[in-house]
Amino acid sequence: MAQLKFEDGQIVTTLDNIQKALSRLGIELAQWPFERTPKLSALLASDTLTDVQKEELLIALDDRFENQKRRFGYQARDLVVLHRETPKLDELLKIFNRTHTHDDDEVRYIVDGSGRFGFIMPDKQQVLLTVEAGEYIRVPAETEHWFVLDERRRIKAVRYFTNKEGWVANYTGMSIRVS
Ligand SMILES: [Fe+2]
Repeated sequence: MAQLKFEDGQIVTTLDNIQKALSRLGIELAQWPFERTPKLSALLASDTLTDVQKEELLIALDDRFENQKRRFGYQARDLVVLHRETPKLDELLKIFNRTHTHDDDEVRYIVDGSGRFGFIMPDKQQVLLTVEAGEYIRVPAETEHWFVLDERRRIKAVRYFTNKEGWVANYTGMSIRVS
């Protein structure tokens, strides 16, 4: 279940109230539960997946994105698979754990594990959103944010892009005050 933490330590756990707070940044957050067939469960339980297995998982979830593809023109998708034994995990996470923006939306559908997005609100207050399996988020292009794993250090997330080649982080150098 998603939760939103504010700098003063206040924690909001109601999806409605989290959505309301994040809508000030144009962020969409939704719960998209999915049926855990034995096949899907086996794929999600595995620490690592081959490219073929990733594609199997993506195909099983494709129908969820038809509407978003039409609305936002997403052209490409992939599956991120991270777990505590992922080689060079900390190095990899350094790309995301500093404040940055993208020219493209950041679209994530968490299907296993969990993670935390930080956002800088219009009033400059910082918030930290925890997202878990079954939750979808769309962070509009140019939104200042960062991403970290939580203590579980495990996530599988579907990503969608309008242009995968152009997806880079533009660092904004803000100091992070909420964790
Ligand atoms: Fe990002």
